[in-house]
Parts: sequence; structure tokens; C-alpha cells
Amino acid sequence: MIHLDLKHEHIAGFLSDDELQIMQEEVTVCHDMLVNKTGKGNDFLGWVDLPEEISEVLLSQIEEDARKIREIAEVFVVIGIGGSYLGARAVIEALSHPFAAVSDSFRKGPLVIYAGNSISQDYHASLFELLEEKNYAVAVISKSGTTTEPAIAFRMLKAHLEKKYGKDGARERIISITDQSKGALKKLSTDEGYRTYVIPDNVGGRYSVLTPVGLLPIAVAGYDIRKFVEGARAMRKVCVATPSLFENPAALYAAIRNSFYRMGKQVEILVNYEPSLQYITEWWKQLYGESEGKEGEGIFPAGVGFTADLHSMGQYIQEGQRMIFETVIKVSQASKSLTIPSDPADLDGMNFIAGKSFNEVNGMAALGTVLAHIDGEVPNLELCLTKINEENIGELLYFFEFACGLSGYILGVNPFDQPGVEAYKKNMFALLGKPGYESQTEAIRARLAGNDQA
Ligand code: PA5
Repeated sequence: MIHLDLKHEHIAGFLSDDELQIMQEEVTVCHDMLVNKTGKGNDFLGWVDLPEEISEVLLSQIEEDARKIREIAEVFVVIGIGGSYLGARAVIEALSHPFAAVSDSFRKGPLVIYAGNSISQDYHASLFELLEEKNYAVAVISKSGTTTEPAIAFRMLKAHLEKKYGKDGARERIISITDQSKGALKKLSTDEGYRTYVIPDNVGGRYSVLTPVGLLPIAVAGYDIRKFVEGARAMRKVCVATPSLFENPAALYAAIRNSFYRMGKQVEILVNYEPSLQYITEWWKQLYGESEGKEGEGIFPAGVGFTADLHSMGQYIQEGQRMIFETVIKVSQASKSLTIPSDPADLDGMNFIAGKSFNEVNGMAALGTVLAHIDGEVPNLELCLTKINEENIGELLYFFEFACGLSGYILGVNPFDQPGVEAYKKNMFALLGKPGYESQTEAIRARLAGNDQA
């Protein structure tokens, strides 16, 4: 089981036992709101019990569809943005061989790639160059079924699939994951007869990794979704059982990050020492940024990959503005072995670590960094995993979800809405002249003309 390690020396001087005791009272109230579904946004709390509610039938269906896709596709394109792709990508990249894209023998299934997560012309045009040469299938994922980025990517991929495989062939290669009844994607899927999975009404995008949104791509990539769900289930048991900061790591994490926030630490950096965890960080940034950043509140979630970023962001973290705390994901066991060789000439002077494993050296880099950052007034929490596998990643993601719900309630916001996301969309639609936006189009053009004259 993953756990949060608060070595005394890591938080000493930052947080006292008394302060934690005060937080316990708030956490207890918020835990009750989350578990009994009485707090803000409680119509979006379906994710809390999801690990227990995923049925055998659903898991088997997903595994069966994943098997069929693996038979017909060398490439699997996941179309979605935000919560509709980040969870799947986080898990797949954490579990994959780092050079999976380069060789089939480094993969357990098709190469999973992503579309509709930007509006980049060059990215999508390049994607079609690849898909001309490859056998492929797609999952189109959108809860609302109306999001611009995945909609336009799917419009193009659907046409490409139909041209390449014919209408029936395309239908075999498209799986849609969307709302049960609402949205353009639902209607399109019904009209075209696509294999469709439902995103439950009460689960928001960024909390949906344990629905088909995450499970289908993970299964297609060849990973064991049962173990992943098992991990989430084990963490859920611990999280819902008690609000005690001593027994519930998510409660402890939520309490500490809010304490730090109140003392002016407005930025949290999630740190990893494994490049494969980069997308766990991206998923976490979205989860916390979209859940907490509202009403003028919220810890700004940032991420770094060490030791690479010690040679870029390390300087700022050590000596820049003192508004940062760090949460370090610490993985104790590597899956493969690798030892630093001795060199007779020792021109680089590295013989003093010859015979040690990379993991040991990485561990010392991590320890040295934590101590340096603490000296630089950057408190450090350590989130400890034994190794990267399906079960532990399931635990980790559920841990972060539960802690995020709690943390948002402690902060006093609704962690399950995202009203601010609409602002850019309104402007974009007005600028593009979407029907129904005539008055906004006029207003935005006048605004821009005014700016031009200024
Ligand atoms: O977490 C969220 O709710 C958002 O990030 C959504 O997942 C994202 O905006 C995509 O929305 P949709 O799935 O409706 O296309």
C-alpha cells in the first residue's frame, strides 16, 4: 500500500503537531461530506464508490473489446481532451516501456496515441501521415459530446477511416465513450451504430479514469485493468473508512497541503524521479487545478521531473520566491537492474559510485535534494510506492482523487465543477462566428478594434 511519509525533519519548522490537530477537525467534517455526499457538487460524487461498483460484466466487455482492437489495429488513437484522455495516458505511460513507440517488441498491444487534445494543425496533419501507413482503430471520448477539440479530430478521423476501410470497416474500428443520452457524440454514435460505453452522469471528466474512459485504452494497451481496479479498491477502503490523519493518507495529504497554503505556500510541485510518471503529473495537475482553482482560491499545481529539472527549475525551487512546497513520488524498487560500471582510466571521476545501481544513485539524488530544499524552506512530503505496477498506480490515482475532493472542501470550493473553462470557449466561438454568438462576435470584434487603435 502506498503511504505518505512525513519524516519529522522534512516538515519540522513548517508544521507543528498542534496545527495538524486543528486540521483534523476540519478534515473530519469534510470527510463526512464526501463520504455521505452532502457537500457542494454532490451530484458528481459517483467516483467515490466507483471501484466497488465496477461490475464483472463491464470489465469483461472492456477486455473483449480491447482484445478485438488488438487483433485488428497496430495503432489505437484515443480522441479526447482534459479528463477524457489524461487518466488513460497517465496509466499507460507509467506502465509502458519508455521506447514503446520505437519497437513492437517493447509493447503489449497497439501503440496508443492521442488526438483532439489540441487544435494543432501540424500535429493532426502529421497524425494522418502516420495513419496512412498503419492499421488503426479509435476511441472517441467526450462526456459532453460537444467539446470542439475532440469533435473536429473525430470528424476527420471518421472520414479517414471510412475512406480507408469503408463504412462497415470504420464502424468496427470506432468505439465511442460518452454520456448515456445527451450530446452530439451520443446521437452520432446511435445513428452510426458505434460500439458505445457510457460515462456515468455522476462522474466528472477528471475523476473518470476508473470508468471506460480510462479502462478501455488501458486494456487495449495490454495492461491488467482488474489489478488497476483492485488497487483503487484497496485505497478506497482506507480512504472512506476514517478521517483520521494517522490512518488515512489522503486525509493527511489534504490536511497538510491546506496548512501549507494557509501559511503562504501557494504552489505545490509534484516531483518524480521516473520519466514514466510524467503523465501522472499531468493528470494530477488537471485534477487539482480544475478542482481547486476557483473563487480566487487554490494551490497552483506544478510538476517537475528530477533529476532533469534540477538543471532547470532546481535553481528557482532552491532560491526563488518562498511560496513552494513539494510532494515527491518516491518509487523504491526498479523493475530492471542496471549497475554503474568501473572504468580503468576514471577520466570522469565516477569510479567512486562504480558498482552501485542507478536506483541507489537516484535515491541519493532524491535525498540530497529533499535536504537541500528543506534548508531552502521548501517543505517536502514523500509519497512512497514500492514499484510501478497496475495495482500501485490504481492506489495512487484513487488516493489523489479522494484527497482532492477533501482538499477542495477544506478550501471551501466546489471541487467538482469547472465554470472558468467556459471563458475561452465563449471568446473562441465568438471569434469564429458560431451561430447563436452574433452579439458576442460583434462585441469581441469591437473590443479588438479598440485595442488596435490604442
Ligand atoms: O475534468 C473535466 O471535466 C474536463 O477536463 C473535461 O474532461 C474536458 O473538458 C473534456 O470534456 P468532454 O469529455 O465533455 O469533452
